[in-house]
Amino acid sequence: MSNMDPMIAPLFAKSHGLKISDVWGAGNDVTLFTGDCREFLEQLPDHSTQLVVTSPPYNIGKSYERRTSLEAYLAREKEVINLSIDKLRPGGSICWQVGNHVDGGEVFPLDILLYEFFTRRGLHLRNRIIWHFEHGLHCSQRFSGRYETILWFTKSDGNGHYFFNLDPVRVPQKYPGKLYFKGPNKGKPSANPLGKNPGDVWVIPNVKHNHPEKTDHPCQFPVELVERLVLSMTREEDLVVDPYMGVGSTLVAAVLNKRHAAGSDISAEYVKTAWHRVEEAAAGVLRTRPRHRPVYQPPQNSLLTRKPWETSSV
Ligand SMILES: C[S@@+](CC[C@H](N)C(=O)[O-])C[C@H]1O[C@@H](n2cnc3c(N)ncnc32)[C@H](O)[C@@H]1O
Repeated sequence: MSNMDPMIAPLFAKSHGLKISDVWGAGNDVTLFTGDCREFLEQLPDHSTQLVVTSPPYNIGKSYERRTSLEAYLAREKEVINLSIDKLRPGGSICWQVGNHVDGGEVFPLDILLYEFFTRRGLHLRNRIIWHFEHGLHCSQRFSGRYETILWFTKSDGNGHYFFNLDPVRVPQKYPGKLYFKGPNKGKPSANPLGKNPGDVWVIPNVKHNHPEKTDHPCQFPVELVERLVLSMTREEDLVVDPYMGVGSTLVAAVLNKRHAAGSDISAEYVKTAWHRVEEAAAGVLRTRPRHRPVYQPPQNSLLTRKPWETSSV
């Protein structure tokens, strides 16, 4: 029998062949830590992680954060970013997904404010991805915010190399039947049969009430957004880390694609939901929005798309 105090014993579970734990261990498939992300990151070995993907709080007074001065917020983010960079493997990637800090109606784009924390540590920006979505708050004194960004940085392996594999994330060609019209390949198909590069503007629905992935978390990011990063920036069995994991969307994307995953959240409630989602993902029963599904277009002549004042009352 174990002498361990049951109150402090780590939680382990074997779920559909995955070893899941609430404390970091190199042999875990998935680690879900409850507590401050700095404490969690300190436990990870340096150079262990191929990809860090996260969306931090924006210091705008959401239920899961305590609003503070912008200076204090940035100082804390700098600590988290520095720790994340320490954990990154040479050749690895870090993706920081952010929107705006807003104060008194003035917006402060967080990617601009955070950029130097990465470059001063020698990381290189590869893309500033625009994530565009259609739904959100309606503003009356400025245009409503309908995009956020992902800063994708890489850590050089010494030869300036980093891992990137475009093929798994190619999207269908607009004109797959296009042919070369001159030169030695004249008459042959010119479009890559595997699909085209998805570009750096991603139109992906955000997780609102009728999204299949919606949980009690107010600001989840969609699994399909993270899958694109996981599939292009890691290989199977690599470690993917999310220091502000919320309800575990990053970990789910990693597990669905046979990567190891580790994350932390300050809220025990969110970690519980994340654990449940990871188990469902491992079991193949988690509902997610498929990666290639087009954005929903409402039918032309439905009650919702017709203007009520133009509807004839026959
Ligand atoms: C924008 S949400 C991330 C949501 C996540 N991407 C998802 O899809 O569920 C930010 C998260 O950071 C967590 N958080 C806030 N401060 C934290 C801290 N010091 N350490 C760890 N997590 C923290 C919050 O509880 C919240 O769930």
